[in-house]
Amino acid sequence: MKHQIKVEPQGTILYCEGGSILLNVLQQGGFMLDATCGGRGRCGKCKVWAESDEWDGKKEILSCTTAVNSDLLVTLPVQEKFLDRKSMLLKTHTFPVELNLTKKFLKVKKASIEDGKGDVERILAELKLDRQVNLAVTKQAMEILAKSKEGITVVFDDQELIAIEQGDTTNEFFGIAFDIGTTTVVGSLCDLITGKVLVTVSATNPQRQHGGDVISRITYANEGAGNTEKLQEEIVACLNEIINKLCKEAKVCTKHIYCATVVGNTCMHHLLLGLNPTQLAIAPYVPVVQRELRVNPEEIGLKINKQGSLYVLPNIAGFVGADTVGVILATGLERVSEPTLAVDLGTNGEIVLNSGHKMVACSTAAGPAFEGAQITYGMRAAEGAIEKVEINNGTFKLKVIGNSKVKGICGSGLIDLIAQLLKHGVIDPSGRIVEPDLLSSDMAFLMERLRSNGKSYDFVLAFPEESLSGEPIVLKQKDVRELQLAKGAILTGIRMLLREVGLNMTDLKQVYLAGAFGNYVEVESVLGIGLFPAIPASRIKAIGNGAGIGAIKALLSDQEKERAELLAKNIIHLELASKPEFQDEFIQSLRFPVQTSVE
Ligand code: FES
Repeated sequence: MKHQIKVEPQGTILYCEGGSILLNVLQQGGFMLDATCGGRGRCGKCKVWAESDEWDGKKEILSCTTAVNSDLLVTLPVQEKFLDRKSMLLKTHTFPVELNLTKKFLKVKKASIEDGKGDVERILAELKLDRQVNLAVTKQAMEILAKSKEGITVVFDDQELIAIEQGDTTNEFFGIAFDIGTTTVVGSLCDLITGKVLVTVSATNPQRQHGGDVISRITYANEGAGNTEKLQEEIVACLNEIINKLCKEAKVCTKHIYCATVVGNTCMHHLLLGLNPTQLAIAPYVPVVQRELRVNPEEIGLKINKQGSLYVLPNIAGFVGADTVGVILATGLERVSEPTLAVDLGTNGEIVLNSGHKMVACSTAAGPAFEGAQITYGMRAAEGAIEKVEINNGTFKLKVIGNSKVKGICGSGLIDLIAQLLKHGVIDPSGRIVEPDLLSSDMAFLMERLRSNGKSYDFVLAFPEESLSGEPIVLKQKDVRELQLAKGAILTGIRMLLREVGLNMTDLKQVYLAGAFGNYVEVESVLGIGLFPAIPASRIKAIGNGAGIGAIKALLSDQEKERAELLAKNIIHLELASKPEFQDEFIQSLRFPVQTSVE
């Protein structure tokens, strides 16, 4: 029997067979719902409000565990496609331009009986060069020359003439650098003359509806014929939406974007290119391709100048991707002479160590907790997100993005919160939220925020009158465990890389911290949760979106592209799971420190 589902606020009507899973019906109907746990009923992100004859009034249900057995009226949560500027981590700054891609304005002689040269030959004669010219440009030559009384602009990529344009467009010369994260996609529009980053936009990766981590994306890709192509279509559509938004904001025409670069973890890289990611999840975890690729944008449907090029940075290994190469480009990690570490705190945590003699890298399945996902009230760094927590002199203070009522908590806020609760004994080193009577009497202001849920305690961050939904916003025991797993995974990776090169934590002279929360994270809080035991705060530097900066550097410089290619060839990859000590290290790394490690 068929049922009708009316979807609000869009007013769309969908039909499905009885027993269909609501999440699948909504997704097939084109609605993007977060499904961080891949539809396993664990993350709570696929919740919708629904009315049915089966129950009284409206109720909130998990769409991934609801079988449709009657007609439904479903109200979807408001989805922000583009994220708040606060979450855009690339400052507007300028990078050096060293490109073989050039534009030049020319006045071309008219055709004449005496001369007899073809249109393309007259253009090349004016340039006093003999370049390759492709068919697409050749086809445009006659019309553009006929229309351009005042002259034409030519675009060269190294030895090839890639475009001819009417009039003088030499100042309209742009490129876009993309950082495709498992959770967030960032695009930066750059001026190819000045090297200035003009606008940066970030958006949610639409593939999140198939799961929050790379493994669930790979699983989805394998579940049905055409799923890899579907994932590719979703990410390309997302990049095209970012292109449109960037162009609109900067008042730039898409045909004047001649190049793009992409960094991302190896799985995101494969899905963008429509490459089957299956092998990434099976030992020996090899990618289809590691090397850099130059792709015609039309081949994957990217809407920039058709004759432009897309440069996809190289991967290091199956789980250490081009995003790590980007972080190294951003930090100059390969050029240091003392032990230095770079950590990218994403859903897939990637770590690179330069011992001073050799470079080793690994990846750890940190999960999306650092990005505010898989946390009961976790959210991106957008309006309404708690981004900072302070417990001081008997007061509990929150800093909320946009100074609005509280909607949830983002990654930097979560790290701050847990560091503060550890410091004040509300969470013990095992990660347990303690009973109120274990707190000292001067902590009464925190005691009143501890609420029993029967099994454990929740810590109230915002009371109903302080929250946007009118519901209390709480930190649950399971949320602490999520962060604990994430920090445990990263710390295990760091320890094992150090062991591989015979160094200790105290030998590290500098640590670069890159990640979704970038410059907004408090280094003291990162130390507070024990991510880098025994390292003074002065040696830790938060660099923001390192992978994105690397993508911009490669966009603007051919030398940086060559650097990326060399890096990917020379970094030694360490497969953590194959090491016998991995489990022990991981268990040890889960504990929180008793006190913060400061200088
Ligand atoms: S709870 Fe439904 S997708 Fe996670």
